[in-house]
Amino acid sequence: MSVSDLFKPLTLLHGPAMRNRFMLAPLTSQQSDHDGTASKYDQLWMEQLSKGGYGLIQTSAATVEAGAIAFERQLGIHSDKHLPGLIQMATAIREGGTLSAVQLHHAGHRAKPELGGIPAPASDKTLPGVAAITTEEVERIRDSFIAAAKRAQLAGFDGISVHGAFGWILSEFLSPNLNDRKDRYGGSVENRARFTMEVIEGIRKACGPDFQIGWRLSIERYGLRLEELREITAEIFNRELIDYLDLALWDSTQIVRDGTYQGKTILSVFTELSRKNVRLGAAGKIMSAQRAGELLDEGCDFVLIARAGILQRDFPLQVQANPVYDSPKLPVPAEYLRQGGLSERFIDTMRGWQTFVSPGSK
Ligand SMILES: Cc1cc2nc3c(=O)[nH]c(=O)nc-3n(C[C@H](O)[C@H](O)[C@H](O)COP(=O)(O)O)c2cc1C
Repeated sequence: MSVSDLFKPLTLLHGPAMRNRFMLAPLTSQQSDHDGTASKYDQLWMEQLSKGGYGLIQTSAATVEAGAIAFERQLGIHSDKHLPGLIQMATAIREGGTLSAVQLHHAGHRAKPELGGIPAPASDKTLPGVAAITTEEVERIRDSFIAAAKRAQLAGFDGISVHGAFGWILSEFLSPNLNDRKDRYGGSVENRARFTMEVIEGIRKACGPDFQIGWRLSIERYGLRLEELREITAEIFNRELIDYLDLALWDSTQIVRDGTYQGKTILSVFTELSRKNVRLGAAGKIMSAQRAGELLDEGCDFVLIARAGILQRDFPLQVQANPVYDSPKLPVPAEYLRQGGLSERFIDTMRGWQTFVSPGSK
């Protein structure tokens, strides 16, 4: 396959097809209002992206409850007061010819009390002095994910992506290290995956057959076990419960260090599964046209662009114009990002990412 294959459309199980294989990865820019309302900076960012040639744009992680928050100025989708801002975002994306998805997020044990977050650990042992959430609280949070998906649909988004990565609540429940529950959400792999399954199935039931459901999964840290995640994914693929899997790797070339799949790429452990009509994409240092094209050869249906998309808002158009396009080398001066249209708030967020903004650049 070649770079030009990235521009072939991709049908999804539900709703419209992606016009190409580029998906913008979720990017928390920390520029919303303090109550989670999309700010004018969020809207400007979305307007820029909507002209960037993507097949599908995911929003930043949006809180499904007020207490789910992990980042200052995080986007919210837990209240109808967020609707006008979300409608504006969905409209801009649609007018650019791109599909849209809100990433639904609950921080779980990593919720930040100083921002109004209410830590929700799966186990009594995770946080000193904080009890595991009760079964009823798990059910309430599940229902908040579903209510948030309904809100995304009402706002005009084509779908949502369920954030199941990075130790946030759904990922936390998958982990045998963080989940020692005795109720039906703990114990066996099946029980630890139940929260994720109920969220996905509940959203499908509530939002109907035209709505797109993505699922973001990460493999590393938090005591997650690759063998188990593969088993859960196989079940989700086999039952065609989602439209796409978004594998959140930090490096898409990463090799498994131990266990059953030692020596293989993490990606191949998932691309080798039979996935029926579910689509699979990966994120992780996709900074050039060439690397994006290679991922199709490695079995991906689409690619997720994150940091390369902050450096260059129209990454897909750049690749279309130049099949050997490569991102600018990191770090870049703050002024480079400013010239590109990034807000000061977003630039400040990026200063927190090692080796992204040149140290000391104004
Ligand atoms: C500034 C920034 C914000 C991010 N915010 C989110 C987020 O809201 N949700 C999420 O799942 N991942 C988030 N990520 C991870 C990216 O989506 C992506 O998986 C990761 O950066 C690896 O891709 P890359 O190497 O192309 O940057 C964020 C990454 C960056 C750099």
